[in-house]
Amino acid sequence: MQVHKYDVVIVGAGGAGMRAAIESGQRARTAVLTKLYPTRSHTGAAQGGMCAALANVEEDNWEWHTFDTVKGGDYLVDQDAAEVMAKEAIDAVLDLEKMGLPFNRTPEGRIDQRRFGGHTRDHGKSPVRRACYAADRTGHMILQTLYQNCVKHNVEFYNEFYVLDLLLLDDDAAEGTGQKRVAGVVSYELATGEIHVFQAKSVVFASGGVGKVFKTTSNAHTLTGDGMGIAFRRGLPLEDMEFIQFHPTGLAGLGILLSEAARGEGAILRNSEGERFMERYAPTIKDLAPRDIVARSMANEVREGRGCGPNKDYVLLDLTHLEPAHIDAKLPDITEFARTYLGVEPYTEPVPVFPTCHYAMGGIPTNIKGEVLADNDTVVPGLYAAGEVACVSVHGSNRLGTNSLLDINVFGKRCGINAAEYAVGADFVELPENPATYTEDLLDVVRTGTGTERVAKIRADLQDTMDANMQVFRTESSIRQALDDIEALRERYRAISVQDKGKRFNLDLLEAVELGFLLDMAEVMTVSALHRKESRGGHYREDYPDRDDTNWMKHTMVYRDPDSEMEGVKGIRFDTKPVIFTRYEPMERKY
Ligand code: FUM
Repeated sequence: MQVHKYDVVIVGAGGAGMRAAIESGQRARTAVLTKLYPTRSHTGAAQGGMCAALANVEEDNWEWHTFDTVKGGDYLVDQDAAEVMAKEAIDAVLDLEKMGLPFNRTPEGRIDQRRFGGHTRDHGKSPVRRACYAADRTGHMILQTLYQNCVKHNVEFYNEFYVLDLLLLDDDAAEGTGQKRVAGVVSYELATGEIHVFQAKSVVFASGGVGKVFKTTSNAHTLTGDGMGIAFRRGLPLEDMEFIQFHPTGLAGLGILLSEAARGEGAILRNSEGERFMERYAPTIKDLAPRDIVARSMANEVREGRGCGPNKDYVLLDLTHLEPAHIDAKLPDITEFARTYLGVEPYTEPVPVFPTCHYAMGGIPTNIKGEVLADNDTVVPGLYAAGEVACVSVHGSNRLGTNSLLDINVFGKRCGINAAEYAVGADFVELPENPATYTEDLLDVVRTGTGTERVAKIRADLQDTMDANMQVFRTESSIRQALDDIEALRERYRAISVQDKGKRFNLDLLEAVELGFLLDMAEVMTVSALHRKESRGGHYREDYPDRDDTNWMKHTMVYRDPDSEMEGVKGIRFDTKPVIFTRYEPMERKY
């Protein structure tokens, strides 16, 4: 076992992690641990844009942006956090511009802006051009730009280091309270199979999402909820885990993302009758309604028999009225995806699409400084989180497109500054004799298992039940089915064996560990979905089809607690947290 010592350790090298590292690296000795290589992080798959009320191409302001974010999140958004994000958006974009990001430009040389779902002028009057973009490769450009700037600031990267545990030790300053403080993380080096302990005064979790619990997803293979899972196993709560976003336009049958920027540039959704059906569901902003509404409308068209194709199980995204030159300039990647993966020519043929799991609105609870909370308001000294792994909560029950690239930049930056400043004034917490015992035991159990169950089969079965039962429409019985299936899969997981018993590049072993996190997180999501008996944002219960502000205008907080049982699941405890209101009272959500 090797031990390293840093002021700040950042877990994850996507946009949030690297934005944090740029700040932290200039103030304190900082290491970034990533299970990939930084430029392969999932931020690179984000396509359409990063929003900010720059008002470069039409009137706009941060207050309209805040309103859209709150309404888009079906009023479950903490409004103080949304205000911070909308105000700091402008500097976040300008920071990236100064770092060298090649944004698309207007003829006058300003950063160009495009339309995106749910972003409107003057509180919903019409769509507004708020998304700054680099063709349909905005996330890719952000990732490259941030990485280059991390290199410039001498940030140290540990690539293919898989973090498996968070060291939370008793806080001497808070003796008798049970309060914990951060001491570091434990990781597994893929190349050697060695365990590395990183002692740190501050730790920032920026490890991304958990979309791989679903089969149909826009998420990369690596998004297995490790960061959320590690925090949860260490007794920290998770917030609002029932809210999963389904992006309307995944390539049908595959789930690969076709950016909402296509609709921002004028593409139209049509059913088997050629009808522009979003006119019925969102008469004012039509195809540019928020994602939860568009995804449900698409699924409803299919359920009511107006789906397309031999099985009538998708709808069509029509770009054929757009000029090929415009498509090539603004949407080169996604149109190539349609050609490559479906054999469809978007200049002349509509593209088959259906909702795909895209984003977790919930995660590790934080305040607006990025400090992780051990309950509704107790800060864990030295622990921070940003990006999809975190829940601050700026997205409430449904995130607006382009608010994710914004979130990682605004709250990544805040975490980097605050984690470094905390570390500069803090001492290291003394480590126990063997801080890696838990991790060694975890790996040993997986490595030495002799059962007959296969990791890939359990993962496929998990994804099948999540797709079938926890998608856009949910009912008590579908959620219960998913939960029963997950409990059976957890039992089977105890009987796995891995074929590769070696130390070097043992992906077999890591996939088995990842499956453990996926099962934990799938259970948390389904129990939370069963618990919330209303429909709001991305969580639509057919048996409770209305939003119920009287009983459910509150965040869900889930804890691991061996003494508790919720919804028939042992070891889970629920609490609630009030939603923060500053400006906007909940209203009916019409578009
Ligand atoms: O559709 C997209 O380009 C995705 C953007 C986002 O999730 O923010």
